[in-house]
Amino acid sequence: AQQAERQRILDTLRLSRNQLLEVKERMNEEMARGLSKQTHEQASIKMLPTYVRSTPDGTEHGDFLALDLGGSSFRVLLVQVRSGTKSNVDMHHKIYSIPQETMQGTAEELFDHIVDCIADFLKYRDMRGVSLPLGFTFSFPCHQSKLDQGILLRWTKGFKLIILCCGYDIVYENIIENEFDLNFVAVVNDTVGTMMTCSYEDPKCEVGLIVGTGTNACYMEEMHNIELVEGDSGLMCVNMEWGAFGEGGELDDFCTQFDRVVDACSSNPGKQRYEKMISGMYLGEIVRNVLLDFTAKGLLFRGKLSERLKTHGIFETKFLTQIEKDRLAMRQIRSILQHLGLTSSTCDDSVVVKEVCSVVARRAAQLCGAGLAAVIDKIRQNRNLNQLSITVGVDGTLYKTHPHFSSIMQETLQDLAPQCQVTFHKSEDGSGKGAALITAVACRIMTQDN
Ligand code: BG6
Ligand code: GLC
Repeated sequence: AQQAERQRILDTLRLSRNQLLEVKERMNEEMARGLSKQTHEQASIKMLPTYVRSTPDGTEHGDFLALDLGGSSFRVLLVQVRSGTKSNVDMHHKIYSIPQETMQGTAEELFDHIVDCIADFLKYRDMRGVSLPLGFTFSFPCHQSKLDQGILLRWTKGFKLIILCCGYDIVYENIIENEFDLNFVAVVNDTVGTMMTCSYEDPKCEVGLIVGTGTNACYMEEMHNIELVEGDSGLMCVNMEWGAFGEGGELDDFCTQFDRVVDACSSNPGKQRYEKMISGMYLGEIVRNVLLDFTAKGLLFRGKLSERLKTHGIFETKFLTQIEKDRLAMRQIRSILQHLGLTSSTCDDSVVVKEVCSVVARRAAQLCGAGLAAVIDKIRQNRNLNQLSITVGVDGTLYKTHPHFSSIMQETLQDLAPQCQVTFHKSEDGSGKGAALITAVACRIMTQDN
């Protein structure tokens, strides 16, 4: 009876093929609404123009500085690009931490910290006083009206800065006005940086996907479909900001009580609903809430709640990834549970916990695959093709470390977009390299124009 009751609860987290098709369909509708001038304001996904219109052609060269902010680590990078062979890129980087107080302090404190890190990096590379073009991977939604401007629309992923939030021009008011001789050339979302990093090696890469702390996608859209930008010819990369999907109720039919609690207890209730069902920052929280519910109903841990399990954020996504490793014996799962304060768990408990992790991760991967199916099929339809062969550049800790996420996502995609052959290219170099390449392309075009 206990097993049946647990399955009844877990069934609310299982999605049928029809439900996934519905997710794809609704994503498709929201994409159209986000692109159209008339409906853009109300659309949940903003489909932001990026002003990235061409990919590198191999003739770019020079030294570039890149910043990479918004994932699990903040990096300053020196990227040296030599023309000719495409693999000729040298990178040096240093990782800096961003203290929790800074993530939730004032925007000035955050940008002061970034400026200190740049100063430290230049000193460390013995490059003080050099004049370099700068590309900034800033992995938050920004309104752009040109490549070198980014007006922040909102913070996501636990960043919650107190003042000067929306409408903040992240470039001019901060890093420009300091002592370095840096020439700000490009503000780039991490999806766009990832797509560029991959397209440098594979020109068929026209989609960027991140499944890490947060989730998001970008792709090359026809200019005539981007109503917010003048001009009808060629392509432009669109940063979808798909994490916000569901804010208009599109996911209400698929949300469970656990999703509602995770949303309500987050730093941005009501926002980023799709992201909260998929990305690394939230999956552990969904699992923790299921375990709490099971325990309260006497279906797990002999009904005994541990204090630690009641703590927000204690079930980190890395545990979810570890628990699902097939080779991991039940004994090791128990030691993870012990670490979570669940000292008297039994072998049966471990089996249940593993199943919860697997159901939550599978749903995330399927939802992500359904969204991606909408994107890829749109590209196919844009080009009037019966069959499309395309590459997706992917990055993010969850995608790269979870043992089953990528295969489930790909299965779902194939099932829901059967006319597309999709290759996944894992980015090993981070999106900072892509930001530097975008900067390099812009510098090449500027030189050609002069
Ligand atoms: C990295 C990028 O490669 O992937 C980051 O350089 C990005 O900017 C990140 O945000 C996503 O991964 P995570 O797991 O660190 O959020
Ligand atoms: C969040 C951000 C988005 C970013 C994604 C992945 O959704 O809003 O800009 O691309 O996380 O890091």
